[in-house]
Amino acid sequence: MEVVILDSYEQISKKAAKEVSNLIRNKPNCVLGLATGSTPLGLYQELIRMHKEEGLDFSKISTFNLDEYYGIPPAHPQSYYAFMHENFFNHINVQPERIYLPSGTATDVNAFCQWYEEEIKRLGGIDLQILGIGRDGHIAFNEPGSALGSRTRIKTLTRETVEDNARFFGSVEDVPRYAITMGVGTIQEAKQIILIASGENKAEIIAKAIEGPVTAQVTGSVLQLHAQTVVYLDEAAASKLERYDYYKWVFENKPKL
Ligand code: PGA
Repeated sequence: MEVVILDSYEQISKKAAKEVSNLIRNKPNCVLGLATGSTPLGLYQELIRMHKEEGLDFSKISTFNLDEYYGIPPAHPQSYYAFMHENFFNHINVQPERIYLPSGTATDVNAFCQWYEEEIKRLGGIDLQILGIGRDGHIAFNEPGSALGSRTRIKTLTRETVEDNARFFGSVEDVPRYAITMGVGTIQEAKQIILIASGENKAEIIAKAIEGPVTAQVTGSVLQLHAQTVVYLDEAAASKLERYDYYKWVFENKPKL
């Protein structure tokens, strides 16, 4: 696991965007795994800028989003479908038929989840997965206790997640209690993973996920088992890492390898 610590949120967003754009240029029909939340917004903004100013071409890529609230339709302003279109898809030239998001209205949830997994496989697997991390350590909506081998399925959100996301819904009561989410095992199959975290309120969980034991209680910790994960942190999110100096040292010396 490579840990890259930069001064600001803007810098980590740009660095992560560079990685994504390099992949798209090298493999125009690549499959991206995408995340919602506040964290990847800077990355999406930079990719939109690259599309508009540098002609970065998204016309052949496919995208799979990690998760979606269950019980709200795509047209709901707080659906992840709406979030992704508003903040990313509407501003680039991705083809609508190559955009995949879990359905928040599937009637046969198990059949839908199985289909989602099969589509990922049919397209050759996820080349690069973008991740944020929740304060409870979740990646996607894999809340503490999620099996490390889990696949796409419906999950009950924790009270903490519901409270964290109430800021978008206006009140805690309006936040859905369930989500359809890729499993930890699904995410682990991505060929490459980028985890981004910023701000002091992520420092504690980042230290646990990167330096603590691999445990289902912090599902982000499973990334320690993944061979191609890079974690991009701003100084605040990195502030509780014990081996902070070493990560900086590795980064400074990398160009010399
Ligand atoms: P955030 O959410 O980017 O809004 O902090 C991250 C997450 O819950 O995965």
